[in-house]
Formats: sequence, C-alpha cells, structure tokens
Amino acid sequence: MRLPNPAATLRRTSEFSLFSLSQSLLMRILKRLILVLLAAVVTGAGAVYGMSNSRMNAAVAVSDPAPSVTLDSLSVARGEYLVRAITKCVDCHGDDMGGKDFIDAGPVFAVRGPNLTKGAGGIGAELSDDDIVRSIRHGVGRDGRKLLFMPSMAWPDMADDDVAAIVAYVRSLTPVDRVMPPSEVRPVGRALYLAGQLPLYEAEEIDHDGPFNRMKPPAGPTAEYGRYLATIGGCTGCHGPGLSGGQVPGTPPELKPAANITPTGIGHWTEADFFRALREGKRPDGSTIDPFMPIAATKLMTDDDTRAIWNFLISVPRKEYGGR
Ligand code: HEC
Ligand code: HEC
Repeated sequence: MRLPNPAATLRRTSEFSLFSLSQSLLMRILKRLILVLLAAVVTGAGAVYGMSNSRMNAAVAVSDPAPSVTLDSLSVARGEYLVRAITKCVDCHGDDMGGKDFIDAGPVFAVRGPNLTKGAGGIGAELSDDDIVRSIRHGVGRDGRKLLFMPSMAWPDMADDDVAAIVAYVRSLTPVDRVMPPSEVRPVGRALYLAGQLPLYEAEEIDHDGPFNRMKPPAGPTAEYGRYLATIGGCTGCHGPGLSGGQVPGTPPELKPAANITPTGIGHWTEADFFRALREGKRPDGSTIDPFMPIAATKLMTDDDTRAIWNFLISVPRKEYGGR
C-alpha cells in the first residue's frame, strides 16, 4: 500500500517531538491524515493488522543500567519538581500520576498514560527501577516493549541524579485507585504507521547504544546549566536545535510556528521580560503568547533555573528566524 505524501504529515524529524503538541492541534492534524488515508486505496486490512502488530511489538534490547536510587526527601522533592516544571510527565500521566486519558483520536488511536502509582489499577508495584529509567531515557518499558507516545527523545542524556530523582518521586507517590485501559492503536493508525506517515514510538528514533553525554554542569544560574535544562525541558525540541524557531517541520501551516529565541529574536528583551514571558505568557508589548508554548510548566520553574535558561539563550549564536 502506498499513500500520497500529504503536505502535512506527522512525520517526525530528529528536531521535534510531535508529542508536545496540544491535543486539539494533534486532532486537527490527524483529521487531515485520515482524509489522506481515505483517499488512498486501502487493500488487505488483515495484512495491515499482522504487519503492524509485528512491527509494533518488536522488542527493543537496551543495556543501559539504571543508576542507584535513594528515597531521601531531597531526591523525592527534586523528582517532583522535574516531573511538574521541566519534563511535564504529569501532562500525560495525570496530576497525581495516577493515569490520564491523553487523547482519543477515533479510528487512529487512544493514548492513555498509565497509572504509575501502587494503587488499584496502577503498575507502580510491577515496575523495577530499571524499568522506570529505561522508560524515561529510552522510551522502552517492561519486556523491551516500545512505549507508545513516551517523549523520550529529549531524555537519553538526562543526568543520573535527575533520572534517579524522578524514580524516587514515582516510588513515593500516594497510591491512586484508577484502572486505566491500555493504549490502543486502531486500524487507521496502524495503516498510517506502516505507511511511515504516523510516528508512534520515539524509541525508534533513539540510538540506544549511545554514546550518551550525561555530565550535568553544576546547578546554578549559568548558561551551561541552562543548556542542559533547555534540552531535558524540551525547548530545543520545539524551537529547534539552533533555537531560531519557525514552522515546526511536517506540521500544517495553521499551526503556530515556534518563535526565534536566539538573541536575534529576544536579544532586546530584559531578563525581567523573559521571566514574564515564561510565567505569565506575555511578551514585552503585553501581547499573549500562544498556549502551544507550555507556560503551565515553565511558570513553575525556579528563579535560578529560569535565569539559567535566559543566560543560555542570550549566549547562543544569533540566527535568522526559521533556520531551526
Ligand atoms: C506525551 C505523553 C507522555 C509523557 C509526557 C510521559 N509519558 Fe510516560 N507513558 C506515556 C504513555 C502513553 C505510556 C504507555 C505506553 C504504552 O503502553 O505503550 C507511558 C508509559 C510510561 C511508563 C510505563 C512503562 C511500562 O513498562 O509499561 C513509565 C514508567 C512512564 N511512562 C514514565 C514516565 C515519566 C517518568 C515521564 C516524565 C519524565 C513520562 N512518562 C512522560 C505517555 C507519556
Ligand atoms: C510544545 C512546544 C514548545 C516548547 C516545549 C517550548 N516552546 Fe517556547 N514557544 C512555542 C511556540 C509555538 C511559541 C510561539 C507562540 C506564539 O507565537 O504566540 C513559543 C514562544 C516562546 C517565547 C516567546 C518569544 C516571542 O518572541 O514571542 C519564549 C521566550 C519561549 N517560547 C521560550 C521557551 C523556553 C525557554 C522553552 C523551554 C523551557 C520553551 N519555549 C519550550 C513552543 C514551545
């Protein structure tokens, strides 16, 4: 089966994670894809099912041992901060990490963040530390299963102490009783996936053998530390590796392009302007930044971390808008 190549596809580039799209935007893109699929001649639904099953279930071998985890209150607090302000795990796993219906895109898929606690319906008791670390850094869960929609591309280089802190936080979660049905990839999603039009697993994009760069600069309001935060916090994922923004590759034109956050774009801002942008979602002229920019998380960042990212951004090379 061959599909026409639509102007708008969900094909991911190494620069961008589609999983950061808001649900309504994702739905709009999916509707286009469904039309493309319906316009194409679909043959052999059974073959699609079998072929997609074998690709979707192909196990991924990862040998990348987890660092040791300590359950002290400092690690737990650090983990909670990362999960809410930086890595945004709560967006998909729920505010209480007890599971959440992330998106139900009719014939395409239903994505549900599992309940990571030890309550009824939770998988917290089944997960080893290794499983949680592998899920984060590699997007690969128990038994080598590729995890649907886990946005791990930003995290292979997450430092040992940070990934261990997130594990500590997951371990300390108050049990939540919430039974979550597993995520499903439905027939249209399977056909699109096989046709290479719909990425489902970031695990397929990650080099699981490394090399990894997990040296974290000392925490503080420095450009070096800001670079680390901008990576695990996903700024480079949306604004591009060079941070110059522009239309996110492969997304339809009605989707808000990311802004240029190199000095070419925000060099005339003050640090206070930057704080206001990340905390209130307002530009210096008072206009509102599109909610595609995740202010709900950035507003939780500490002063030092916000300053670190600011110092990083004003230190990067100037770049014309849209060069990514
Ligand atoms: C964009 C949504 C999204 C975000 C953000 C996200 N996850 Fe997930 N995660 C999922 C989905 C969906 C699954 C279930 C995938 C499946 O069953 O194939 C999952 C599964 C998991 C699993 C289960 C692994 C297993 O063996 O079954 C763990 C652990 C996990 N995530 C931890 C995290 C942590 C920690 C973070 C933040 C650092 C995070 N996730 C961020 C969507 C997300
Ligand atoms: C999910 C994608 C996404 C992520 C993640 C993201 N941004 Fe954005 N950001 C955007 C988009 C899209 C805009 C443009 C919004 C608009 O035009 O109103 C934007 C706008 C901005 C602006 C306003 C710039 C201007 O001139 O209007 C700043 C500053 C900014 N982002 C900084 C950051 C930082 C720092 C991070 C990481 C902590 C980050 N962004 C993470 C998508 C994202």
